[in-house]
Amino acid sequence: MANETKSSHAAANAKMEKIVSLCKRRGFIFQSSEIYGGLNGAWDYGPVGVELKRNIKDYWWRRIVQLRDDVVGMDGSILMNRAVWKASGHEVTFHDPMVDCKVCKRRFRADQLETCECGKDPKKTPLTCGSELTAPRNFNLMFKTYVGPTEDDTSVAYLRPETAQAMFVQFKNVLEVARKKLPFGIAQIGKAFRNEINPRNFTFRSREFEQMELEFFVPPDQGLKWLEYWKDERLRWYEEIGIPRSKIHVLDVPADKRAHYSKGTYDLEYEFPFGVQELEGVAYRTDFDLKQHQEASGKPLEYFDEETRTKFIPHVVEPSAGVDRTLLAVLCEAFAEEEVKDDNGKTEVRTVLRFHPRVAPIKCGVFPLLKNKPELVAKAREVRDLLRPLMNVFYDEAGAIGRRYRRQDEVGTPYGVTIDFDTLGEKGPELKDTVTLRERDSMKQERIPIKDLHGWLLQRIN
Ligand code: GAP
Repeated sequence: MANETKSSHAAANAKMEKIVSLCKRRGFIFQSSEIYGGLNGAWDYGPVGVELKRNIKDYWWRRIVQLRDDVVGMDGSILMNRAVWKASGHEVTFHDPMVDCKVCKRRFRADQLETCECGKDPKKTPLTCGSELTAPRNFNLMFKTYVGPTEDDTSVAYLRPETAQAMFVQFKNVLEVARKKLPFGIAQIGKAFRNEINPRNFTFRSREFEQMELEFFVPPDQGLKWLEYWKDERLRWYEEIGIPRSKIHVLDVPADKRAHYSKGTYDLEYEFPFGVQELEGVAYRTDFDLKQHQEASGKPLEYFDEETRTKFIPHVVEPSAGVDRTLLAVLCEAFAEEEVKDDNGKTEVRTVLRFHPRVAPIKCGVFPLLKNKPELVAKAREVRDLLRPLMNVFYDEAGAIGRRYRRQDEVGTPYGVTIDFDTLGEKGPELKDTVTLRERDSMKQERIPIKDLHGWLLQRIN
């Protein structure tokens, strides 16, 4: 049994190593400031990574804001008045317990010692390496900075640790301009910063990351109903971007583990190779946030219900997802290695990212069969220009066609179109102006007229 556990750990580690190396090799994710030795907990998204990230955010925005009548968007500033973080409770309570090791001089999260690596012997944990640990102390996770030319207590500001607070403090302004009645929501996507004690598992726990958050304001007696609604709605969204329902665990967070103001929280967790870990929290936050800001600012944040002629502070249900964690889950889910036969019948391993076409960074590769035949190149560029206004297309004329397919398999491009001599009508008029369309997952190829191409692709992508 112990051996089985060890070998499944080793397989999970090997899978993560392959994913991290593919991410670098193909331009999904690089270490931040790599040429200077990196910066722990910070990552850069490369040419295909940024496309994947945009597609995830765009689809969230489309489903949460644009396809609904009851949600509007906003884009708040990262720096906010310090009073916001006092009122929200972050300045005093947003901390993790931390311990120092007197032997290796490392700092660890006191509640995660069993999964941390010792600073001297990474194979051991601080619990098994003979460490000398200090008593736990609280460490505030907010990054502090100063606004303006003086660096003293009066100019302290923080990089926001969540996007949510801007939506609470702008509740009244947005409500007025949006002319909405409850229930209604404000949505936002943006960067958040936390000085995590132990960033780890690639991008999973970073110090700079992005959130996609919705604050959904409801009458006080409807909170629990909307909590269920948003949990189900969010589960559907993950399926729609290619994460099967069976890989998401819904944790009904027990009362003693929830924030004190929450009357119900679901954690949506994904089966990452390194364990089942949180992707998103869907929390019923009651009227805590608006009440705090109303009290601290002295500005009314109540809602007047025309029908019941009553005034109250709305309650809030908040689905809060991490962009980077979603992207990592999408990558882990898509990653596959399989044995295939090459052109000479020899077995080789194909690495493929089976992204859902909706989030795939590139939707279609366009390839002239040979690059030294000007007629093929001209026709292929024509096809590229036909598709480009509708989707992200990658044009590639370098190398053997099989290798070009493999390169696109590795970045998860679902379709490839090859322009060959049949396209030019050299083998007869019936195949003229048709192309070979190759499907990434099955590797099956079919012939399709150029005039049908964009309709065929759009139907499958959307
Ligand atoms: N407004 C509520 C809130 O911020 P949270 O559970 O602290 O709740 C929400 O964060 C989501 O943000 C998490 O489920 C996760 O996806 C993402 N997230 C939080 N901390 C993160 C970190 N250090 N690195 C990457 N993503 C993080």
